[in-house]
Amino acid sequence: MRPGQSHPRAESSMSIAEGAAATTDDQEGAAAPPKSERIYRHAATTRATHWINLVCVTVLLLSGLQIFNAHPRLYWGQYGANSDQALIAMEATQDRQGRLVGITTIGPARLATTGLLGASVQDGHLVPRAFPVWLTLPSTRDLATGRNLHFFFAWILAINGLAYLVFAYFSGHLRRDLYLRPEEKHLRHLLADVWAHVKLHVPRGEESKRYNTLQKIAYLSVIFGLLPLMVLTGMTMSPGMDAAFPFLLDVFGGRQSARTIHFIVAWSLVLFAAVHLFEIFLVGAFNEIRAMITGWYEVKPEKKA
Ligand code: HEM
Repeated sequence: MRPGQSHPRAESSMSIAEGAAATTDDQEGAAAPPKSERIYRHAATTRATHWINLVCVTVLLLSGLQIFNAHPRLYWGQYGANSDQALIAMEATQDRQGRLVGITTIGPARLATTGLLGASVQDGHLVPRAFPVWLTLPSTRDLATGRNLHFFFAWILAINGLAYLVFAYFSGHLRRDLYLRPEEKHLRHLLADVWAHVKLHVPRGEESKRYNTLQKIAYLSVIFGLLPLMVLTGMTMSPGMDAAFPFLLDVFGGRQSARTIHFIVAWSLVLFAAVHLFEIFLVGAFNEIRAMITGWYEVKPEKKA
């Protein structure tokens, strides 16, 4: 069923923004306040592409860290090798007693990160390793498998992302549910939304039927910012793609800069996912995740004044 279509069971709705006709479970009398209302919140294409995206992003992150471990130093510009100054590095060294220590360097800052970054436990021993075994795919050192997984899922991510964009554009999902309405572009509205988030406000009733402003901005930043940047910087690192699209190297200032941006964007996506999950648990994980699986969302009734 498509959002906007009526449903034989009469639970209809569509777009999260328009909130369309919905039913209540309470049929007991006209005077009684509705107990709950169900709306059709997410179209099948949004749901399918969302979960495929999650699998892709997860495998890409973990296999990407496996690839990073092969040379855990990031540079800026066209070139970068062991003798060059690194912008970010995760390496192991020895202290005065000859014990292994993990050191993470970010610009001028040097942080001791033993146990997590630079040096961590593998098979009961502390070993030099940028990211630990539980954060890489495969867990043990295997660059070839890491690359195969990474490139395979990169294609799925790109195709899935394009399918989502085509659907979201032609179905009106982008315009209806994700683009900011004129009043949402005012600073005062934005600040009020920031304040509501600070107060951990949980929307109910009509308000919960649409994405809030910060939520829209976060989704739009991921859809049109972080994910395309991920794909483009990934392409810039590929010699084959460089041959086909040489301007990519100019756009990102070289293959090493592209690798650094790729790494930073990957962790920005992790940050987004952490906040995204926090919000989902805040407003009700069961209802939210069920809606992203079945399409149907239970609207919490407004609190009585
Ligand atoms: C376990 C991890 C995740 C869970 C449980 C989850 C769950 C959800 C849910 C429930 C929604 C709907 C929110 C609402 O209706 O208010 C949503 C929307 C969305 N999520 Fe996630 N998500 C996860 C990971 C991710 C990741 C990793 C990304 C991107 C890299 C992502 C990107 C998005 C986007 C862009 C939307 C809006 C989709 C649209 O309406 O077109 N999610 N997610």
